[in-house]
Amino acid sequence: MKIISTPLELKEYLKNYDKTVGFQGNRSVGFVPTMGALHEGHITLIKEARKANEIVIVSIFVNPTQFLKGEDLDKYPRKDEADKKICELSGVDILFFPNATDIYDSDEVSILAPNVRGFVLEGTSRPSHFNGVLTVVMKLLNIVNPTKAYFGKKDAQQLNLISLMVKQFFMSVEIVAVDTVRENDGLALSSRNVYLSKEERKEALKISSSLHIAAKMLSSGIVDVKEIIKKMREILSPLEISYVEILNRDFEIIKEVEIGNTVILVEAKVGNTRLLDNIWL
Ligand code: PAJ
Repeated sequence: MKIISTPLELKEYLKNYDKTVGFQGNRSVGFVPTMGALHEGHITLIKEARKANEIVIVSIFVNPTQFLKGEDLDKYPRKDEADKKICELSGVDILFFPNATDIYDSDEVSILAPNVRGFVLEGTSRPSHFNGVLTVVMKLLNIVNPTKAYFGKKDAQQLNLISLMVKQFFMSVEIVAVDTVRENDGLALSSRNVYLSKEERKEALKISSSLHIAAKMLSSGIVDVKEIIKKMREILSPLEISYVEILNRDFEIIKEVEIGNTVILVEAKVGNTRLLDNIWL
């Protein structure tokens, strides 16, 4: 596995890649952007990329612009050595590991999240978060120039906005959505789970349980959004809820669940840790 830290070096390496490794013919590049502290969720994205592409590139970059003041940028878990091993063992060809100064200048052109879809849900509690996400993803996609880029459905709104950016900016990358990976007891894997104490870890299960109950209500024929949300809020109590929403896949408000075109999303705070989860129906 080749580890590269600057955009120019990576572009140069990719330009000469076929000659360097003796590759011939058409090749597709699969790209998995991450912020490190890799877990089974990230590994699943990497495996999906490995199955479908000749070259697999992973980036690890804790992107400062998507953290708001007072958020966990400084204490965001960093596990560089373990992450490198995980990438190597997962068959990654190139690990892109830049510094903030390799990615950002002091004065920058801005990419802004759209008003309607960018400022609901997580965009409400974290204004400007998605500007940072879209900016860095645009930069990373331009540096790597992949055929396919892999994102988790766990961050449903992020995935939706990235797909929108790719479409609206006429970018040629294919965005691949990967199902959420969970612990055996249902908790969605997240780099932030390491912040949870034993007690909080138990409390956090209310999030996946609330989604489970919602799915059960649906299978018993209840499709009224208000009724499902009310029940979910009861299950989540006494967690500090940022939002519980049932939307269609364009992230528009609906009154009744329409199977095949619905996402149920929850964000709640467990102790000081914000956790999100969702199901796609
Ligand atoms: P990060 O939180 O490290 O996540 C990287 C990718 O892994 C994202 O696409 C995320 O949705 C996916 N992921 C995380 N947990 C998952 C799980 N349990 N199951 C499946 N996929 C999971 O998301 C980011 O980083 C950043 O915002 C980034 C896109 C890299 C831009 O900085």
